[in-house]
Amino acid sequence: MHAKLSFEATPSTRKLARIDALDGATMPRHRWYFVKEAFSPNLVGCAVEDAGVCQEELVLDPFVGSGTVPVCCSADGLVTVGCEVNPFLAAVARTKLLNVRPKTLLHHASSVYRGVVEGRPSPLESFSTFSRVGDAPKWLFNRRVLRAFEGGWRATVGMYGPARDLLRLALIGAAMDVCNAVKDGKCLRYRSDWKTRNFDEESFQRAFKTRVRIIREDLDQAPRVAGPVSILNTDVRSGMSAGLDGDRFKLCVTSPPYLNSFDYTDVYRPELFLGKFVKSMEQLRALRLRTLRSHTQIKWEDPKEEDFGPHFSPVFKEIQDQQQTLWNRRIPMMIRAYFEDITLVLRQLKQLALADASVWIVVSTSAYAGVEVPVDLIIADIACREGWYLREVRVVRYLRRLPVQQWKQLEKRSVRRKPHLRESIVILDRTARR
Ligand SMILES: C[S@@+](CC[C@H](N)C(=O)[O-])C[C@H]1O[C@@H](n2cnc3c(N)ncnc32)[C@H](O)[C@@H]1O
Repeated sequence: MHAKLSFEATPSTRKLARIDALDGATMPRHRWYFVKEAFSPNLVGCAVEDAGVCQEELVLDPFVGSGTVPVCCSADGLVTVGCEVNPFLAAVARTKLLNVRPKTLLHHASSVYRGVVEGRPSPLESFSTFSRVGDAPKWLFNRRVLRAFEGGWRATVGMYGPARDLLRLALIGAAMDVCNAVKDGKCLRYRSDWKTRNFDEESFQRAFKTRVRIIREDLDQAPRVAGPVSILNTDVRSGMSAGLDGDRFKLCVTSPPYLNSFDYTDVYRPELFLGKFVKSMEQLRALRLRTLRSHTQIKWEDPKEEDFGPHFSPVFKEIQDQQQTLWNRRIPMMIRAYFEDITLVLRQLKQLALADASVWIVVSTSAYAGVEVPVDLIIADIACREGWYLREVRVVRYLRRLPVQQWKQLEKRSVRRKPHLRESIVILDRTARR
C-alpha cells in the first residue's frame, strides 16, 4: 500500500487543535521548563481518548524530551514509560512529575537563595565559552551570574528528595533566563542587547524567585500526579525493551528528532554543563554518539540499509545528484542513517505493542539541496514494511519557509514550486481496523 497524505480532520484527529508546544508554555507543570521542540498536551489528550487507554494500560514515549506525555498521562492516573537519551531532558521530565508540600519547597528555597546571595566561584568560569576568558568577544554567562548559580547549587548538595530536584531545575532555568544567548532553532544566538543588559547576580536572583513562585503555585493548584511513571535515561535503540520489563503498551505517542541536522545535545550544552550532567567535552561527545543519527556534527557509524520504500528512492537520488550543492557531504549518509534508526525503533515498538495498540508519530518533512524529503510518508512506508497498519498521515500544518540557504539554491536551479515543509502525524495500528 502506498502511503498518502490526508488533510481533513478524521474521527481520530477531530479534536486536535494544535501540535506545537506553545500552549504547554503556560500550563501547570509543563511550564516548569519550556522546550520549543515539545509537542502540545492537546495532542496527547487526543491520542489517549482515541485509543481509549484504561487505567492499568501503558502509554509509551520513546523520545520523551521534556516529558509532555508523562505529565499529561500521569495526571489522568495512566501508567507511563518514557525514554530520553539526554540526561538533562530526562531530569526535566522526571522533575515535572514530582510532588512536595509548597511549605517544604519554600523552606528549602530560602537556604538555596542564601547560597545564591553568597555566591561561589564556578568551575565553568574558565571553561569553553561559558564565561569571559581573555579577550574572547562573546561569552554565555557573565561571571557574576555563574557565581550566583554556583552558590545556589552548592546549597542543594546536602538536600535530598523532590525539593532539591525542583530547586535545581529552578536554578538552571534562572541561569538560562539571564544567559547572554537564547535558543534559536539549531543554535544559541546572542541577544542583540546582551552587552547593555549586563546580567548580574541580581538579575539571576529575580529569575530564580520567579521560577520558585511558579513551581509553588502549580504545586498548590495543579492536580497531583497520580499514575506510575518511569523515565529511562537511555538510548532508545538499545535500552527500550529492557526498560519495559516485559510490559506491552496500548498507546505510543512520540516525536523523534526531526531530520533537520538539529543536535539537541549541542543546543542544550549550557544546561548539560550547568547541571553537571556532563563534565567534559569527551563526555559530551560520548552522549552525542548515543543520539539518533539526525545530524552530521559527529562521526557516527555509517548505515548499511539502502532501501526505505517507494517515497524514499526518487528523492534520495535527486539529493545525491545535487551532492555538490550540499553544505555537508555526509548529508546523504545522514538521511539513510536516520531512516535506519527509525526502522529499528518501529521494529522494536512492534514487539512491545499490545494487539490493539496504536502509535502516533509527530514529524516534519525536511529539505536538502532544495529537495523536500517526505519524512512522514517514508516513515509510513517503513512502518508498513515492518508489519504496522497505516491508519493515516494527517498533515497538521505547513511551516512557512525553508532556511534561506535552501531558497537560494532553489532560485539558482529556477525551481518554480518551492517546498513548504509540513508537520504531520503518522498514525499506525498493530492490527488492521475494520
Ligand atoms: C522532538 S524531541 C521530543 C520532544 C517531546 N515530545 C516533548 O514534548 O518534550 C526528540 C527527543 O528525542 C531525544 N533523542 C534523540 N536521540 C535519542 C535516542 N537515541 N534515544 C532516546 N531519545 C533520543 C532528544 O534528546 C529529544 O529530546
